[in-house]
Amino acid sequence: MKIAVCLSNTKPAPWIASLQAALPQAEVFEWAPGAPPADYALVWTPPQQFIDEQPQLKVLFNAGAGVDALLRMQIPASMALVRLDDAGMSVQMAEYVVHAVTRHFREFQAYDQAQAQSHWAYRKPHRRQEFSVGILGLGILGRRVAQAVRQFEFPVNGWSRTPKQIDGIQCFSGEHGLSEFLVATRVLVCLLPLTPDTQGLMNRRTLSQLQTGAYVINVARGAHLVDEDLLALLDEGHLAGATLDVFRTEPLPQAHAFWQHPKITVTPHISARTLRDESIAQIAKKIAALQRGEPLASLAGLVDPKKGY
Ligand code: NAP
Ligand code: GLV
Repeated sequence: MKIAVCLSNTKPAPWIASLQAALPQAEVFEWAPGAPPADYALVWTPPQQFIDEQPQLKVLFNAGAGVDALLRMQIPASMALVRLDDAGMSVQMAEYVVHAVTRHFREFQAYDQAQAQSHWAYRKPHRRQEFSVGILGLGILGRRVAQAVRQFEFPVNGWSRTPKQIDGIQCFSGEHGLSEFLVATRVLVCLLPLTPDTQGLMNRRTLSQLQTGAYVINVARGAHLVDEDLLALLDEGHLAGATLDVFRTEPLPQAHAFWQHPKITVTPHISARTLRDESIAQIAKKIAALQRGEPLASLAGLVDPKKGY
């Protein structure tokens, strides 16, 4: 069995060594133009040439949770896509979002500014019950984040494509449920996959429906948000601020208004990193299952190209 590795964002050598150690019977190699045909591949945003030269691949294992970039490529229908299914990401996402929510709720930014002026001053506590947190997307990451935020006794709402029932979370679904979800939300967290249905979903029309003084946390993809609409609603005072980890163009261009905006916190797409050990262990286990003859449909993280995630 041959496994090609084509990772655009990191040095492949440690990944190849690790995958080889987990699957000693396999031949694991770094892809280069003209490489021999492989059975499986581990990829992150490969060039189209990779797909075109390897049409026989049975499965593309994506070294990340989001497959929006892969689904924009020309991929033969016979090639299955399997994304990371948690692999250590949900705990990172939960800590990032809990940090952003509590930093805003407890006004730690204002205390940082007070310390800079050696100024000892209390701020009036907000009412927790007035800080409902709404999570767009209740998948592997959204559900974990919802449960983590709930631990701090904030009211939590969630929105998904199909209906859900989750203890302690008020669940909404489908287009018909979106307005009700937004109206009930003070802190909006985006954890949706980027698909034609979710692109630009956070725009003036939807963000205006959030409660006055709402806060936006985008940890999914930059294209979920209409940048100009966020800036306008911050400047008009409808929104209190935003924490943004993902952007339409990455790295975020130097001249972009988000960098210097006093109400925006920017991080460089780090809310949930792909962890090598966890990812390789998961992918090796799935390849071993396929080699034993287990059906592709039994693999967690199998992407449905029609749904787009
Ligand atoms: P997932 O398990 O596939 O969950 C996706 C959720 O979104 C599901 O609840 C799904 O609803 C919902 N959804 C999809 N389309 C929808 C629509 N049109 N309307 C309403 N709900 C919709 O994905 P995940 O593993 O949680 O990851 C989510 C995203 O996070 C990834 O796609 C990626 O873009 C992003 N991400 C970012 C980072 C980072 O570092 N910033 C790291 C990892 C992932 P159903 O449950 O009804 O199917
Ligand atoms: C990161 O953004 C991922 O999709 O895993």
